[in-house]
Amino acid sequence: MEELIRSVANRLTNIPFSSIREIFDEANAMQKSGINITHMEIGRPDFDTPIHIKEAANAALQEGFVHYTANNGIQELREAIAVKLKRENKIHVDPNKEIVVSVGCKEAIVSMILAFINPGDEVLIPDPAWLEYQYIVELAGGVSVSIPLREEEDFILNPEDVRARITSKTKMILLNSPHNPTGAVLPEAYLKELADIAINHNLLVLSDEIYEKLIYEDAEHISIATLPGMFERTITINGFSKAYAMDGWRLGYAAGPEKLMKPIMKVHQYNTSSATSFAQYGAVAAYLGTQEPVFKMVQEFDKRRQLLVNRLQELDYVSCVVPKGAFYVFPSFKGIGMTSKELATFLLREAQIACVPGSAFGNYGEGYLRMAYSTEYKQIDEAMDRLGEALKKLTVKG
Ligand SMILES: Cc1ncc(COP(=O)(O)O)c(C=O)c1O
Repeated sequence: MEELIRSVANRLTNIPFSSIREIFDEANAMQKSGINITHMEIGRPDFDTPIHIKEAANAALQEGFVHYTANNGIQELREAIAVKLKRENKIHVDPNKEIVVSVGCKEAIVSMILAFINPGDEVLIPDPAWLEYQYIVELAGGVSVSIPLREEEDFILNPEDVRARITSKTKMILLNSPHNPTGAVLPEAYLKELADIAINHNLLVLSDEIYEKLIYEDAEHISIATLPGMFERTITINGFSKAYAMDGWRLGYAAGPEKLMKPIMKVHQYNTSSATSFAQYGAVAAYLGTQEPVFKMVQEFDKRRQLLVNRLQELDYVSCVVPKGAFYVFPSFKGIGMTSKELATFLLREAQIACVPGSAFGNYGEGYLRMAYSTEYKQIDEAMDRLGEALKKLTVKG
């Protein structure tokens, strides 16, 4: 047995399990023992999937759509995605050759990275960021290069920082706007500069736009693929998990020029064959049906966002950038003098609030916590009372 365990592939040697799990597990154990926890650690909507989407999937299931679909997804869904991309993102793709329906956005990301990254290739990744990016690049044998995001720059990726880290080995840049965990939205001027860099250095761009519909105030979502010279080097990745509360359905897609899509298709084909057949019919309804549930959900998120930011900004030793997208705030607790992991554990035990240590998103996330507002307004309000009281204990002691 020992022999077998020692024979785990080398590519996994430096890949840890997600550190988010530790807080999840402790929060769940506390919950089970009867302690009421406010869950601000979970990165998914607390809403149900809209009913018309469920009905469409249900009908497909009843009608017998239970078999493998075309590798790149059912025709109806690829066409619905092409219409959506044209209308909302101004991206023009051929639904037959330039879209692959994937098992969540995540599978599309893995497929792109496996399709293009050779051992030693460098991939530029914002830090903090969704940690999957780094580990998928490393699983592929690539080298992830952190680009710091700074609180004083509202966590917006600074093109100068990108430029400074380009080497002859840089192959790809990974963009995520609106961003997890900071909620930052990349403004057009920055996207243009990033596009210039990608063109000048012949880089591929992976644009993860999963949070595009969760956007607030005057922020505008722009797909980098629409900037001049960018379509041919960009894969736009999106999905249904966040905007339509369909995270358990595991549906996403990659879209881009045929030349780049072909290798992605190859990885997808050998890995999954196709996304779940009847779920894909639900996704057609998500894109072609009413968008009212999305608007309502975003309105509710916006109220919670404002509440959370206001409550955090009232606290001593805490600072909080106003996020313009996604459903996360990323406040700094550097003034408290604990590591973000220590603080997350302390808040779980003392204030019954579960949130994620910023360090789980990269070295530059140390000192911050990610708090998801995918929890009811009243619960957030009460949690912030408890947070204030818990922090007083620390600061009085200190
Ligand atoms: C930035 C980002 N991309 C992708 C995903 C995963 O999306 P999916 O559920 O479509 O795989 C997440 C999930 O949290 C995310 O935060």
